[in-house]
Amino acid sequence: MKVSVHGCGYLGAVHAAAMAQLGHEVVGIDVDAAKVSVLNAGRAPFYEPGLPDLLAEGTTRGALLFSTDAADAAGADVHFLCVGTPQSAGSGVADLHHLDAALAALRPHLRPGDVVVGKSTVPVGTAARLAAELPDGVRLAWNPEFLREGHAVDDTLHPDRLVYGVPRDEVADGGETARSPEPGGAAARLDAVYARLLADGVPRVVTDYATAELAKVAANAFLATKISFANAMAEVCEVAGGDAVALVGTMSYDARIGGDYLGVGLGFGGGCLPKDIRAFSARAEELGVGRAVAFLEEVDAINDRCRDRAVELVRSACGGLAGRRVAVLGAAFKPDSDDVRSSPALDLARRLAGEGADVVVTDPQAIALAQAAAPELRYATEVAEAVAGVDAVVLATEWPEYRDLDPAALAAVVRSARLVDTRNALDLAAWRAAGWDARSLGGASVVTHDASRPGEEMVTG
Ligand code: UDX
Repeated sequence: MKVSVHGCGYLGAVHAAAMAQLGHEVVGIDVDAAKVSVLNAGRAPFYEPGLPDLLAEGTTRGALLFSTDAADAAGADVHFLCVGTPQSAGSGVADLHHLDAALAALRPHLRPGDVVVGKSTVPVGTAARLAAELPDGVRLAWNPEFLREGHAVDDTLHPDRLVYGVPRDEVADGGETARSPEPGGAAARLDAVYARLLADGVPRVVTDYATAELAKVAANAFLATKISFANAMAEVCEVAGGDAVALVGTMSYDARIGGDYLGVGLGFGGGCLPKDIRAFSARAEELGVGRAVAFLEEVDAINDRCRDRAVELVRSACGGLAGRRVAVLGAAFKPDSDDVRSSPALDLARRLAGEGADVVVTDPQAIALAQAAAPELRYATEVAEAVAGVDAVVLATEWPEYRDLDPAALAAVVRSARLVDTRNALDLAAWRAAGWDARSLGGASVVTHDASRPGEEMVTG
């Protein structure tokens, strides 16, 4: 099939490359000429494992090309909208101007029979509005994307579910649509696009627009809630003398709860979770059901307090912050990404600097983007350079290379061997054995008395 993809950021570039890999002829459209030329050279404009190979393969084969001209989308059977829907300045409302602009540029090139497919995360009700703006004979589907940065290629080629929001007339027959989509309908077109994934047994849900739009925000709201639940338990543990890591560990054995997204630490960031829960709250308010998701404000507040608690932990470790030299390991919002949007790590570095600490930040991939977002901070490309002569080392993004650091070697180059692990990623016992004052968020590594073994102490965490 011929496929166009509008918006070539973290979502669209991966989607375009993955569609070429599935055997389609793909054109990716983006307004950023520099990004388009990097993509046409078969290179990735951001760090995403596996993407460079996919882009190189697709462009070399001639199945994948990129353009700044929406007219190049003419003739495609399916047009995917993959532009960003960031948070508006000064409110939680999603800013849809990129989406509206992409559709306005595409509209003159649509012909009857085309299917436009929204993948961007949008407030519920957006698809119905956009469908009404399409030319006659052009159908709209909403097909939310659940990929995680850092795993984007695999998540796109091996998704855990496909969700299609399709026009009312296609869902009117209830479950039937799911079994045999109406020929010529939006669901049938998407089935053809994703034929290989469906043959692999990926479950797909065909539903109405509103449910499909909500499928994405509900999932992200739930994930954010799980993370903040763990971090709320950490707040309690810190004053009650418990160990939050051990606590959520006990919960994770319950199959109904599971252990994913219960990591105790600095909390969530990135281009999705923070803005999606705020946009969900704002949209629910508009719909008069703000109370139904009022808890998301608390989820956001708990997440923000993780950063405050991390600042206080560094302050207490160092006996003050003013003038203290602090190395922050990590700037990306999570490992395997160079994305610093709403990054807890970068925000922590900023807050420490704001309290008078002399902060140097390092990251394996995100320094360039961090420097652009927070030019006031100092950066070092290597850990050894970042930690030389510091009063404290703060782990803020749990990159694998930081988990593997040698505490004895590092102790030799710092001024004071103080470690604050805000991600509960390091083996604090090993760091302590190498002479470090090692602390972590959530009251972990509390030394308790094990009554079953008199005279022995049990270290948890
Ligand atoms: C998320 C969703 O997972 C994905 O389905 C959706 O399509 C986009 O939003 P992503 O933003 O790439 O994906 O990141 P994710 O891996 O989910 O992590 C989000 C944030 O939560 C990161 O800052 C991460 O460090 C943090 N996190 C995750 C925790 O703080 N604790 C955890 O236990 C898990």
